[in-house]
Amino acid sequence: MRPIETSRLILRNWEERDRDLFHRINSDERVMEFFPFRRDRPTADALMDSMREEIARDGYGWTAAEIAASGECIGFIGLHAAEISGIFPEGSFEIGWRLAPEYWGQGFVTEGANALLTFGFAELGLAGIISFAVHDNVRSIAVMERLGMTRDTTDDFDHPGVPDTHPQLKRHVLYRIGRDDWRRIHRL
Ligand SMILES: CC(C)(COP(=O)(O)OP(=O)(O)OC[C@H]1O[C@@H](n2cnc3c(N)ncnc32)[C@H](O)[C@@H]1OP(=O)(O)O)[C@@H](O)C(=O)NCCC(=O)NCCS
Repeated sequence: MRPIETSRLILRNWEERDRDLFHRINSDERVMEFFPFRRDRPTADALMDSMREEIARDGYGWTAAEIAASGECIGFIGLHAAEISGIFPEGSFEIGWRLAPEYWGQGFVTEGANALLTFGFAELGLAGIISFAVHDNVRSIAVMERLGMTRDTTDDFDHPGVPDTHPQLKRHVLYRIGRDDWRRIHRL
């Protein structure tokens, strides 16, 4: 893929040196608070491999976020086909994110996700982009709101992939932004 650069970040494909960080953001209790699973190292490695293949093939996906000045990989900020059948219409695209906790609170996700909205609307020609989160995931929802995405409460849904053992993680909110709203916000 062609890396996407922002003022502080580079969104790029995964590299071998990212494996420790990738495992950590898939197993750390704080990062994974709103997920019903934790990934061990072999499972995280396999997922990183499949994400890497997808990004190489499509030119986008669940891309690694690197701080340009230091070269540190801090997590992922990505654009991906939204794949919950029966919930989203076919052809929907989502943005999503997951950072190691020491990088929270510095605006990195909002910065990277804004660049992905630009990529999705201006380069891929998408009509709309969605994002969703567990109802109580206020940090993630705050990112969506900072990006200018909006929620219609009638779109809230129970995630079919969340097992009954974790009822508190089932209810999700859905945010969306259309190309015209994005243009208006950014005065394009
Ligand atoms: C969700 C998550 C990515 C949000 O990260 P974040 O650092 O809060 O998000 P941002 O990068 O947009 O940063 C916003 C924070 O940085 C602050 N900030 C500092 N400089 C900023 C800037 N230039 N621009 C925007 N915000 C800035 C904001 O005030 C805000 O701080 P606050 O939380 O104290 O209000 C992070 O908490 C995470 O990885 N969580 C675990 C995984 C997860 O739940 N993923 C989402 C699943 S749906």
